[in-house]
Amino acid sequence: TPIPAPTTSCSKTGATIKPGLPVPYSCCPPPLKIDPKDIPHYTFPTGSKLRIRPASHAVDEEYMAKYNLAITKMKELDVTDPDDPRGFAAQAKIHCAYCNGAYTVAGKELQIHFSWLFFPFHRWYLYFYERILGSLINDPTFGLPYWNWDHPKGMRLPHMFDQPNVYPDLYDPRRNQEHRGSVIMDLGHFGQDVKGTDLQMMRNNLTLMYRQMITNSPCPQLFFGKPYCTEVGPKPGQGAIENIPHTPVHIWVGSKPNENNCKNGEDMGNFYSAGKDPAFYSHHANVDRMWTIWKTLGGKRKDINKPDYLNSEFFFYDEKKNPFLVKVRDCLDNKKMGYDFQAMPTPWRNFKP
Ligand code: C2O
Repeated sequence: TPIPAPTTSCSKTGATIKPGLPVPYSCCPPPLKIDPKDIPHYTFPTGSKLRIRPASHAVDEEYMAKYNLAITKMKELDVTDPDDPRGFAAQAKIHCAYCNGAYTVAGKELQIHFSWLFFPFHRWYLYFYERILGSLINDPTFGLPYWNWDHPKGMRLPHMFDQPNVYPDLYDPRRNQEHRGSVIMDLGHFGQDVKGTDLQMMRNNLTLMYRQMITNSPCPQLFFGKPYCTEVGPKPGQGAIENIPHTPVHIWVGSKPNENNCKNGEDMGNFYSAGKDPAFYSHHANVDRMWTIWKTLGGKRKDINKPDYLNSEFFFYDEKKNPFLVKVRDCLDNKKMGYDFQAMPTPWRNFKP
């Protein structure tokens, strides 16, 4: 049976940072103003222009200022109305609720990571996040920047997120301070910094991308992750990209143990806090882009067509503060959802190990 949208099961005290350590605040969404049974199914607005998501290393100052302003407005909502689902804190809590045990489904904790729900959940999450930002700055074509970490030019913390004095709302002090500036990232990072020249690091990353996108992902289950339905408990098994480079990028950005007074990798290095870093959404925009690219690589690389997958549902608020149910089946085609990615070369295709 497909995983139903968790509209009624949120526990204010149920989310944990790690086993035994509760999140010190509620991760639950703002209270519903209608009967949960009356939450409508989402339909796409018609007649809107395609949003193009740009690569974050390639945007101009005007775009950076615009994105910073949009997040400033989101953060203002946190202050003016803590129950506004469009607020930045409310948006960050969505991740906490779906990933840290705030929800229960069929008697078990809901966890959208480590399974085939990983890609569709984050796609829908970003879809609404992007629309909310666009509506707050009256730009219906606003597209999220994607962190192009699969290309050498994007293999560092995007400059737009690293300028506390110019774009304070794109900056997050709770990051590994040694991974700022022009430091080349390691897409296989699990806590230990590797030494190497920039060129070696880039080559390693490209080889790793080839391995994850091509060698390790010949079929849907290996790419997306294992089936998750109500009969199967949470965390049946993650797909290749979720494992690497998705998780390493989180850990690479987040604080080191005890740095910035952070014990659990905050912000990016822990599910409950990841959404508090604006870089999170750009990281996931590129994860989402990997889904679109993977489907063009041939062979058995196609979307999953199992009903338990297609009929799984999530619950989100839109840019008008209205709650909606969304289905996995409606998010398989990004263009139908109204957005696409600025084209960038994918040199990893030539880095067969
Ligand atoms: Cu929901 Cu990158 O984690």
